[in-house]
Amino acid sequence: MIIHHPILKGLLKKTLVLMAFLVTSSTWAQNPLTESLLNASPETIRANLELLSYMNNLAESAIADNCASCHGADLTGAGAVPNLVDYEWIWGIDGFEMTAVESVMEIMQTILYGVRNTDCAEEIKMFGGCPDTRYSEMPAYGELGFDENALNNMVDYVLSLSGEDVNPFAVEAASSLWPVCVECHGVDGTGYTPFGGPDLTDDIWLFGSSGQEIYDVLANGGMGVCPAWSEVLDAATIKALAVYIYNKANGY
Ligand code: HEC
Ligand code: HEC
Repeated sequence: MIIHHPILKGLLKKTLVLMAFLVTSSTWAQNPLTESLLNASPETIRANLELLSYMNNLAESAIADNCASCHGADLTGAGAVPNLVDYEWIWGIDGFEMTAVESVMEIMQTILYGVRNTDCAEEIKMFGGCPDTRYSEMPAYGELGFDENALNNMVDYVLSLSGEDVNPFAVEAASSLWPVCVECHGVDGTGYTPFGGPDLTDDIWLFGSSGQEIYDVLANGGMGVCPAWSEVLDAATIKALAVYIYNKANGY
């Protein structure tokens, strides 16, 4: 039905807005814990057992439905999908956060807008990714002038960062190339979370710890993707997920 009468049209619009408001507000009214969850700090949630258990249920069912297929039911990850509960972060958190809120906000940004999410209109993309998605590229050095020899030397350099026994001459030869890696992996190789450059000094490997696997990443690059959830999950569920992951990572 198309309504042309201006007053009727205005009335209809107002009625629709009012109905939408009533529907939303009655949902809130049924669920006062939802609003508490949205507003409460991670510490406040942890101190309120009713709210904590409400949050855990919300997070666990969202994980089973949306995250388990990649991160595993217990979120410990597999292969190039990271463990979310080991307190080793690729994105955002760098260990200098003063409060739990700061860390939870970083986790929430990753969940809301994803990692290297490109599932949005071309015209709103920035640097190849959707607005606010975590974005950076591990370059494919095989296509950037590193020959086989340089790549092999760099494999030894990378392995030396985690204390492996490697050829010292290869490490020496690669050290003149290491400065190109520093902007994303840090001077000492411990990673740089604003750019998602993983820590290369620990024993956690997204793409594998063997010489061949490291060679392949150096030669071909890496562009791991985590979907954006801002248009799939509601705000309370996203908050629940972020706090839940933070709590688990801290062993709470
Ligand atoms: C299609 C597979 C896939 C699904 C589904 C998925 N993720 Fe991810 N997620 C990834 C990958 C791959 C990465 C690593 C991205 C990279 O290489 O930096 C990641 C990274 C993350 C990170 C950053 C970890 C860090 O160390 O900084 C968070 C947080 C995260 N995912 C949360 C979630 C949540 C919560 C869900 C469910 C709502 C989810 N992911 C669903 C694949 C997935
Ligand atoms: C512009 C940023 C950037 C630069 C420069 C860069 N990297 Fe990376 N590197 C990344 C990112 C991001 C990843 C993770 C890719 C992913 O998650 O898909 C990564 C992954 C890796 C990995 C795999 C780590 C793992 O856990 O499996 C190695 C090894 C590595 N880089 C070594 C290097 C070396 C050596 C250099 C210099 C020659 C270098 N990177 C330069 C961003 C960078």
